[in-house]
Amino acid sequence: MILTEIDHVAIAVHDLEQAISFYQRAFDASVVHREVVEGDGVEEALIKVADSYVQLTAATREDSPIAKFLAKRGEGLHHVGYRVDDCAAALESMVAAGAVAIDAEPRPGSRGTTVAFIHPKGALGTLIELVQE
Ligand code: CO
Repeated sequence: MILTEIDHVAIAVHDLEQAISFYQRAFDASVVHREVVEGDGVEEALIKVADSYVQLTAATREDSPIAKFLAKRGEGLHHVGYRVDDCAAALESMVAAGAVAIDAEPRPGSRGTTVAFIHPKGALGTLIELVQE
């Protein structure tokens, strides 16, 4: 089995502070990590749940993929991050199974991880991020 854990579930939100506040009030949750990823045009707040995270994600600019998603679909589930031991090997395996890579090669993600995204078309309508810690 290539997948070792659900790394994170990413939720696209309009207002990161409001989203954090909601999770704090609803679940007594606290943010363990915050990061702006300039390359992706996102700011994310991670809430730890056991060995996984809920990743609240907002756009930092209008041309970011999250801004486009929010304009088209509104707030909601954006992608699932699957934790793997070897991102390159997992990417190769997915492509061999018929999936379409968004990232041809693994690249740096947040928290110092190595990541690659897989297109929802060819992956059961789900945007998948492969995450190697
Ligand atoms: Co992610």
